[in-house]
Amino acid sequence: MQQNKREHPVEKSKLHPRNKNRERYDFKLLIEGNPGLAPFVKPNRYGDESVDFADPEAVKALNKALLHHHYQIENWDIPEGYLCPPIPGRADYIHHMADFLCRNNYGKIPAGSTVKCFDIGVGASCIYPIIGIQEYGWSFIGSDIDPVSIESGNKIIASNPSLQGKLVCKLQTNPKDYFYGIIRKDEFIDLSICNPPFHASEKEALAGTHRKLNNLFQEKTSEPVLNFGGQNNELWCDGGEEKFVRNMILQSKKFASSCFCFSTLISKESNLKSVYRILEQAEAFGVETIPMGQGNKISRIVVWTFLTTEEQNQWKNTRWKAVL
Ligand SMILES: C[S@@+](CC[C@H](N)C(=O)[O-])C[C@H]1O[C@@H](n2cnc3c(N)ncnc32)[C@H](O)[C@@H]1O
Repeated sequence: MQQNKREHPVEKSKLHPRNKNRERYDFKLLIEGNPGLAPFVKPNRYGDESVDFADPEAVKALNKALLHHHYQIENWDIPEGYLCPPIPGRADYIHHMADFLCRNNYGKIPAGSTVKCFDIGVGASCIYPIIGIQEYGWSFIGSDIDPVSIESGNKIIASNPSLQGKLVCKLQTNPKDYFYGIIRKDEFIDLSICNPPFHASEKEALAGTHRKLNNLFQEKTSEPVLNFGGQNNELWCDGGEEKFVRNMILQSKKFASSCFCFSTLISKESNLKSVYRILEQAEAFGVETIPMGQGNKISRIVVWTFLTTEEQNQWKNTRWKAVL
């Protein structure tokens, strides 16, 4: 039964100002780019055009259309059951990091393929590299411990010329490593990013998925929840977000002078305390927390560097000539 129509804001104002996904979905335009979306677009219970966010095929079709419309991606797919990322939130991380680099580069965003990013846990979707490449021309290394994700990433690269030469996906063979095995000691990385597995056990990951689905059906959230899917091993690891990030921070110190800055999403606010403690123990020179808000979900990025101010100045003066 159709309920009273809701008033919708014209823009999703909590998203970053440069995020291309701020406006309400224009399904007519999206279908023009991806006709495969058409069968999934139906009026929701408020009579608005929408897709069923609990249907993985519908969410995938919407993602394909958004990637085509906003990011010039002609061919994109992920293996069945793999994490289908909500694109607006992923784009926010990239834009906030561009702003961070801008603040550290005389107010100009470093752009172009000489800006090298490293995405730890790139997933089957390659979502962060796609957005970073199309928005800022950066180049990426993406790592993952899951061979199926790496294979999927390689397929995405092979079927999209705009990504070729800009993204390399590498298999991390040791799940306890983050930088070792992927980054050469003589290689320079301007920015590392990471969306860590969140849950501490498979059971917790499943419960989280059920919670999201329940929220979706009861319409408790004002924003669509897109990423309920995902192989459980993408969503959990022993020790959850806290341990994953702790080990990443400790290992990042070994790459202190090869990376301008390291960053990670922290979904659980209560993990921040231990993250700051480890960063202090590791003697990070600078730490910044960037809040991000989408819908009802508030998240944040923690960024750190081991470079002194003088070393940072030297880095930007030698590496970041092309700017936006
Ligand atoms: C939450 S998913 C993020 C996927 C994608 N970046 C996204 O945002 O949709 C976390 C990813 O980290 C990968 N992963 C887990 N441990 C890893 C490690 N040590 N090195 C690289 N990737 C790892 C998982 O396989 C999974 O694909």
